[in-house]
Amino acid sequence: MKALITAGGHGTRLRPITHTQNKHLIPIANKLMLDYALEYVRQANIIDVAIIINVGDDSIRSEFGDGSSRNIKITYIPQDAPLGLAHVVKISENFVGDDPFIFYLGDNILVGGVSRFVTEFKNANSNCHLALSKVPDPNRFGVAEIKDNKIIGIEEKPSVPKSNLAVTGIYLYDNNIFEAVNNIKPSARGELEISDAHQYLLDKGYHISYSEITGWWKDTGKPSDLLEANRLVLDNIDDSRDGIITNTEVSGNLQTGKNVKIIDSKIDGPVIIGDDSIIENAHITPHTSIGRRCEIINSEVGYSIIMSDSKIKNVTDKITGSLLGNDVQIIGNNKDQSSHRFILGDQSRIEVD
Ligand code: DAU
Repeated sequence: MKALITAGGHGTRLRPITHTQNKHLIPIANKLMLDYALEYVRQANIIDVAIIINVGDDSIRSEFGDGSSRNIKITYIPQDAPLGLAHVVKISENFVGDDPFIFYLGDNILVGGVSRFVTEFKNANSNCHLALSKVPDPNRFGVAEIKDNKIIGIEEKPSVPKSNLAVTGIYLYDNNIFEAVNNIKPSARGELEISDAHQYLLDKGYHISYSEITGWWKDTGKPSDLLEANRLVLDNIDDSRDGIITNTEVSGNLQTGKNVKIIDSKIDGPVIIGDDSIIENAHITPHTSIGRRCEIINSEVGYSIIMSDSKIKNVTDKITGSLLGNDVQIIGNNKDQSSHRFILGDQSRIEVD
């Protein structure tokens, strides 16, 4: 079995962060988003992996190389433009050959990985296996219509959804998917839709089986989704502390990297802090991920993702629900303000008066 993982696309809903970095390299609990996908396929004993990248984007290749650091073999497939998920499958036909494969959207994160779906696909002996999840807002997703425990229709982002079962970004296929992606036409928004490929399979009498995801699953399209995924992952971290922690009250789980200094502070976990960061006279509240070489001084931060090399200093009121890129600085003047919420791209500079 092979794996195809997406790391292309527009990332428009995560601007300005995605102006300067590929969204699949955004850290969730200090681990790159794409590392979750690679870990899941490796756990399912899949070694041969292709990653789809936007043409000209070298950032993914620079990070993961030939895959040996993750014990897998990576092939990179550049996509000329984000022409749709069925287009991604179409351009991967040579890589896949005659093998069955898992198609995994690199911006999806779920608990428990994908081994279960690989087994259920094999047991179902179907042509396509989909992982479905009940959602409150099905019109954001591909939606499955089910009758007598069988999928009878799939629609992409329908305005009137026929169920609350979203088709998640975990798909398993045999070779017949190539007939589908080579025969469908672009949708009104100009993309070759994966849901249209699934509907094609149904129309031609191919068998689509499914599993329902019972634990949590997240499509990390928007900043609020990233913060929620970060929360869900942090809820399961162990307590492991390195570095120097002095005169600091810690409750809940705290994970710190090498050479971290936490002085005169209060930490309410779960919180993760990357290598070489300094927390001084600060209050870090639950579900916060702080990257490497950050400084949080005389400030309060909670429910946020702070990427590497960022500095928050003298911001008296709480920073919450925030997503800060790399090398961001927020410098206050120690006066009381109300709370703050920021979505800031790399190298942003904010002075709070
Ligand atoms: O997450 C599940 C949903 O993913 C499904 O319910 C939908 O049926 C499916 O169409 C897809 O919808 P999204 O709107 O979330 O897809 P998005 O454009 O965000 O792309 C998903 C991933 O694929 C992301 O890793 C970016 C990448 N991508 C996307 C396109 C359109 C590519 O690499 N190339 C592309 O051409």
